[in-house]
Amino acid sequence: MKQYSAVNWNTPDNDYALMFWEQNIKQFWIDTEYIPSKDIDSWKALSPEMRECYKKALGGLTLLDTLQSHTGMPKIIDHIDSLQNKAVLSYMCMMEAIHAKSYSTIFTTVATTQDIDDIFAWVQQNKYLQFKASTIDKYYRAIDKANISKEELFMALAASVLLESFLFYSGFFIPLWLCGQGHMVASADIIKKIVADESIHGVFVGLLAQNVYKKLQKPEKSKEKLLALLNELYENELKYTEEIYTDVGLTSEVKEYVRYNANKALMNLGFEPIFEVKNVNPIVLNGLNVETTQHDFFSKKSTNYEKSTGIVHLRDEDFVMDTSMVL
Ligand SMILES: [Fe+2]
Ligand SMILES: [Fe+2]
Repeated sequence: MKQYSAVNWNTPDNDYALMFWEQNIKQFWIDTEYIPSKDIDSWKALSPEMRECYKKALGGLTLLDTLQSHTGMPKIIDHIDSLQNKAVLSYMCMMEAIHAKSYSTIFTTVATTQDIDDIFAWVQQNKYLQFKASTIDKYYRAIDKANISKEELFMALAASVLLESFLFYSGFFIPLWLCGQGHMVASADIIKKIVADESIHGVFVGLLAQNVYKKLQKPEKSKEKLLALLNELYENELKYTEEIYTDVGLTSEVKEYVRYNANKALMNLGFEPIFEVKNVNPIVLNGLNVETTQHDFFSKKSTNYEKSTGIVHLRDEDFVMDTSMVL
């Protein structure tokens, strides 16, 4: 009969779970703490092409966070031995759901219901977005069974890192680029929180992948598979970038940013970068470093909260003492 174990946080079951748990907690946020409605005037001032690009970028990001929350994290959790690491992944899974919802919080403020419905319909039929999702999902589905090989686990973890550290960035580019020039700044506060979370997710899942990689019997074969997958996704990212950024003239800058982040994904997996990267737009890189949100995930929790949630207003009755409670 199977023995079920309870997670015991009194004794560390590996070297880094507690550190990642605590850092995740420090970074906790929810979308409703921010006020994207401050961006309404900024939104109206954008060109129609820029608005279209922004909406499509956020639509694509929503798809990736939906996949990661509903499939990626749950499937991976099932095959991780450490109960504390499972807990960290569970927390990350919850944050992915907050990420997916937060794009809607921005949409609701700036777009009409019809516009929003159109974007979600566009996501469903866009071949490049669908290719991203189905390619990654294939590796998640491959571990949807009781007994899996170490290579299947490594590839699922590696696919997850590619999603976290690489595939998001063609979408992150436009909100960061606009924010760097003073546009859509309130919405970018949400985006920067998501970037900081994806950063820690990529590092953590990357460490899990590296641990599995060390135990592979034919690691070189798996590395080849990973590089083939990366290239396949890279080619798709180039086409996706052309589709959504050509009208705003940013294609070549976004492609450079995509290569920069592909290298980061490889480094999170313990491999050397493969792309030559010359000039990543400094506005976008600076956009990650200003104020409270930083790519360095060991920075402290944002102090940039705009409003409190769950406020209960004081009433006169609150000041009337319940005498039965007086000892
Ligand atoms: Fe996410
Ligand atoms: Fe993530």
